[in-house]
Amino acid sequence: MRILGIETSCDETAAAIVENGKVLSSVVRSQVDLFEEFGGIVPEISSRRHLELIHPIVNQALARASTELRQIDGVAVTKKPGLIGSLLVGFSYAKALAYGLKKPFVGVDHLYAHIYSAEIGRKFEFPLLGLVISGGHTAAFLVEDLNFRVVARTRDDAAGEALDKIAKKLGLGYPGGSIIEKMAKGGNSEAFEFPVVKLKDGSFDFSYSGLKSQAARIIDREKLEGQKLKDFLASFQKAVVDQIMERLDELVRVFKPAAIAITGGVSQNQYLRERATSFAEKKGVKFYLPEKWLCGDNAAMIAYLGEKMLHAGFSEDLFSTPFPRTEASKGEKQFRK
Ligand code: KG4
Ligand code: ZN
Repeated sequence: MRILGIETSCDETAAAIVENGKVLSSVVRSQVDLFEEFGGIVPEISSRRHLELIHPIVNQALARASTELRQIDGVAVTKKPGLIGSLLVGFSYAKALAYGLKKPFVGVDHLYAHIYSAEIGRKFEFPLLGLVISGGHTAAFLVEDLNFRVVARTRDDAAGEALDKIAKKLGLGYPGGSIIEKMAKGGNSEAFEFPVVKLKDGSFDFSYSGLKSQAARIIDREKLEGQKLKDFLASFQKAVVDQIMERLDELVRVFKPAAIAITGGVSQNQYLRERATSFAEKKGVKFYLPEKWLCGDNAAMIAYLGEKMLHAGFSEDLFSTPFPRTEASKGEKQFRK
């Protein structure tokens, strides 16, 4: 099957062509530059930009895969979660295109697609513990083929959001995660002490707001420049990763998965990649990371999972609509041990 994938859930307009699990093209246009002056995404501006970009980006993805519209066997599009105006642009476009082409279309969960981005080019073993660590979400799922059960999520900030907010407070720019990673090189990660956050309510949930507030207090109190700034950033990056590793350890002990996947924008982080790789080696568990170009938001992962879903018989009718949240969105306690 040759699938057109479309992703417009947040601030990337993306389209991709995937055929039998192989990525033929993937085009991602970030809107980051639009939001620099606002210090964050403005949903209304984002959806208007998606509206301008969606058609040219789809055409680029088709051209790069030397594919004509009539050669498409199905359309996969992000259905949830995300900014509702942004989701609606991609979803409505996909729906209209599929209707016009008389082909099936399928709505894909953005978080499930992140997890499956780690399968591209290989085959998952199950049961899989899939983590999505991004700017919007920090959540863990137990995955068996196309069944996903959320076992942890963040109560407040996502890991990437904490990195972004601290970078912003320091005036370092966006995206904070990659800037902090670069600037933390040569820093002493033991110089500033951050406690490993552990919720005392029997859940596996994540929480980053305390860590973020503690880092903000240090920024207000100390003059962070030169080597001291590097030390601070290395220590904060380590604290963010420590919490992921701590949860991962617990989750592996309790659920005993055959394999682990760590995905989402923050999984580009080399320090996280190395720590998680050596953890999995020590535990003797199979470990999958997406290639770095597949970690952030993209449509290749949407088309990839969409193709599997279409094969399994999933599809949408023309009355279906996207929605902004999922069971893995931030919020109340999710799971008790
Ligand atoms: O998956 P993604 O592109 O969008 C969401 O679905 O949120 O993730 C974006 C997040 C941002 O918070 C960004 O700071 C973080 O990924 N990020 C990184 C790195 N590159 C991007 N975090 C840590 N290290 C990086 N190298
Ligand atoms: Zn994402």
